[in-house]
Amino acid sequence: MVELGKLTPDDWQELRDLRIQATKEVPFAFGWTTNEEIARTEEDWRKRFADSTHYSARENGKLLGVLCVSLETKRSMQSHIAKIFSVYVAPEVRGQGVGKMLMDAAIDDLKKNSKIVKITLNVAETQGAARRLYENAGFKQAGILEKEGHLGDKFVTVFVMEKFLR
Ligand SMILES: CC(C)(COP(=O)(O)OP(=O)(O)OC[C@H]1O[C@@H](n2cnc3c(N)ncnc32)[C@H](O)[C@@H]1OP(=O)(O)O)[C@@H](O)C(=O)NCCC(=O)NCCS
Repeated sequence: MVELGKLTPDDWQELRDLRIQATKEVPFAFGWTTNEEIARTEEDWRKRFADSTHYSARENGKLLGVLCVSLETKRSMQSHIAKIFSVYVAPEVRGQGVGKMLMDAAIDDLKKNSKIVKITLNVAETQGAARRLYENAGFKQAGILEKEGHLGDKFVTVFVMEKFLR
């Protein structure tokens, strides 16, 4: 059975391993290369937890899914916006609603935060299942960023999506 939770800084090695797996599997989806993920230090990984919440999905204790949420803490004019990023579910448990469970948990928490008016995210054109997951959760396309990323001479277009909570 898949169990939802939240990662803590002490889970950084599991997060690193899943991120390395994710960037190897879908190089365009996360904006970072596998080598960049490998190069991060323990301190780098632990710092990620300072400004974002990492929702986790585990089966028999093994980390198989992550979805991250960050709130704007520096610019007060954008303190009503939450960002979702780093969404990944391992192939062996895909299509069983794990992505939806992670998304629902994040949205439920954000709805309880009366300051948050909207949630934004970016998704690469190549990630059909992710777009479907986001549309099902109520996200609408808000823009298109052409040639937003590249690997070698191959460019990727990214869709900006947003969901209003109030
Ligand atoms: C996107 C992802 C997190 C979804 O995880 P999941 O646990 O399989 O999600 P769910 O089981 O909740 O299914 C979500 C939706 O995706 C759909 N889906 C699954 N595989 C699909 C595919 N190959 N093409 C299109 N839609 C697909 C499901 O049918 C479901 O929609 P539905 O409820 O209308 O049927 C997972 O596929 C993944 O990690 N992909 C690679 C990384 C990635 O693209 N991350 C997003 C970066 S922005």
